[in-house]
Amino acid sequence: MRLILAPMEGVIDATMRAILTELGGIDRCVTEFVRVNQLLLPPRVFRRLCPELDSAGRTPSGVPVYVQLLGGHPAPMADNAARCAELGAPGIDLNFGCPAKTVNKSDGGAILLREPERVGAIVAAVRRAVPSAIPVTAKIRLGFEDRSQFLDNVLAIAAAGADELAIHARTRRDGYQPPAWWDEIARAVAEVSLPIVANGEIWSPEDARRCQLASHCQDLMLGRGALCRPDLPRLVQADRDGAPAQPLAWREIAVILQYFFQRKRAECEPRHCAGPVKQWLGYLRHHYPEAAQLFAAIKRLTDPVAVSAALDAHLALLDRGQDQPAAA
Ligand SMILES: Cc1cc2nc3c(=O)[nH]c(=O)nc-3n(C[C@H](O)[C@H](O)[C@H](O)COP(=O)(O)O)c2cc1C
Repeated sequence: MRLILAPMEGVIDATMRAILTELGGIDRCVTEFVRVNQLLLPPRVFRRLCPELDSAGRTPSGVPVYVQLLGGHPAPMADNAARCAELGAPGIDLNFGCPAKTVNKSDGGAILLREPERVGAIVAAVRRAVPSAIPVTAKIRLGFEDRSQFLDNVLAIAAAGADELAIHARTRRDGYQPPAWWDEIARAVAEVSLPIVANGEIWSPEDARRCQLASHCQDLMLGRGALCRPDLPRLVQADRDGAPAQPLAWREIAVILQYFFQRKRAECEPRHCAGPVKQWLGYLRHHYPEAAQLFAAIKRLTDPVAVSAALDAHLALLDRGQDQPAAA
């Protein structure tokens, strides 16, 4: 089984990838998307979204990061993919799943699933443009409005020479509404020899097992589950191996959060640097009750000094053995 960290625009950036891969269990990451229109983009655009390009396309713990491209035209997608390859990307991932209206209106993401031939043409053009040693992967949903063209898209992507396909087991119309229809993925597995990765609604090692059974996929992609519970990838891997695994305690997560905040202070303007911490706490509070308390303590703070002090105070309270820290 391989575990892939799902691409998440505006959430899983290089800092988050570094932190999550350091915790273990993740075999590969994908960047946020590079929007491709007609132009060949300058190298700095790719380096900004994928600073790992300067380290052989790997996170500090050595996990490869594929560059994600989003666009509806084969030729510019191919040119930009070739540029990524020249810059050292270990793989190229093509986004055919984005549900955002603004993206879909300008010919990108899930709307392309209404045109399997065009999806195939994009994959084929990119595959031709990139050296064969560099994998080209794609990510789709079950469809746009409905599932009627699901297998047509899968077949087009396989025929176009993709190296792997991740399937988020919902249509664009389903949005993020549970459930994810894992058994639909099994229909694709039965049709093509292309390796398929199952994605959607995996929140626990038990979900991972159930998803594997229903989808007939060995390989899984984890998105929100890995943000809510950063030890999820390694717990899933340990569960597969029948090995004992110790979940991370909240204190360890709180220390990681403090480090995350310091990184964001270095990366963002002062008034923006608390945002990513609040965003991550928004995910973490689904799994850790303490995260909700910390979120309440910092949600109105924007001054980095105040946020830093609140994080320190939270840790100090944990260290004094009070597992119910009061809101600052
Ligand atoms: C905030 C957010 C941003 C996302 N950005 C992308 C993206 O850039 N490309 C993509 O293919 N999917 C994107 N997705 C979809 C995820 O990769 C994944 O398919 C989806 O969240 C279902 O998996 P999960 O239930 O494990 O989260 C995004 C999802 C979320 C919630």
